[in-house]
Amino acid sequence: MSEQNQAGAGTAPPRHIAIIMDGNGRWATRRGLPRTAGHKVGAETFRKIAYYCKDIGVQYLTVYAFSTENWKRSVEEVNFLMLLMDRYIRELMELMERDHFRIHFSGDLTALPPNLEKLARKATGMALELPDDYCLVNACLNYGGRDEIVRAARRYAADCVQGAQKPEDLDETAFSSYLDSAGIPEPDLLIRPGGEKRLSNFLLWQCAYAEFYFTDTLWPDFSPEEIDKAVAFYARRDRRFGGVKE
Ligand code: IPE
Ligand code: IPE
Ligand code: MG
Repeated sequence: MSEQNQAGAGTAPPRHIAIIMDGNGRWATRRGLPRTAGHKVGAETFRKIAYYCKDIGVQYLTVYAFSTENWKRSVEEVNFLMLLMDRYIRELMELMERDHFRIHFSGDLTALPPNLEKLARKATGMALELPDDYCLVNACLNYGGRDEIVRAARRYAADCVQGAQKPEDLDETAFSSYLDSAGIPEPDLLIRPGGEKRLSNFLLWQCAYAEFYFTDTLWPDFSPEEIDKAVAFYARRDRRFGGVKE
């Protein structure tokens, strides 16, 4: 490895890690269990990985929990996922002050069950009172990258109609501020367990220059050692952002 490569992403942990938590269903099916059993274990993996990322100094952790396409699944599976999200949001609300987390949500919350939407908004409000240096968990619920961009475009258009913005003033920075991720730096490292090498509509705008790490490990089996491997992979990347290194 050249020194140049070593200097690439550096030895500091990525500031922002984004994870597509995939493979729960296959994990369960391989054990002869219902898919929901995989989601239950996968949710525990989320807890473990969130604490680990915080401990190694990651400041932002974005997790894909439910996509705009996941409504295609059975009612039982969707309902189970909604209940799990409810439980983990409540837990985070109780623990975030003590354990130095903040929570933020991306996605169209208005299409979630009303009690879940209300809970998510309450958690967001609580997190806004917490210090900026607490690790931010950005939970993507009913999230689609395309949907996020369309909703941002709609909001910008509405501001133009009201006279608060002008179409010709729109640039990338201004547009970013209309996204659900406004104020959150772009992911440095995107991790997809579960063996698939695709984005599945995750962070289409924000991942323009993210480093991608794929592993066959299914999400319920994902461990802190896997994060170490992904971070080591990241540290070897030469991030050029379109430029040329001397
Ligand atoms: C990811 O695991 C969790 C969600 C999409 C909610 P999957 O449920 O997609 O698991 P596989 O990919 O079918 O194994
Ligand atoms: C992406 O996984 C969504 C989440 C992990 C929440 P999917 O399992 O839905 O993606 P595809 O269907 O394999 O592309
Ligand atoms: Mg999947």
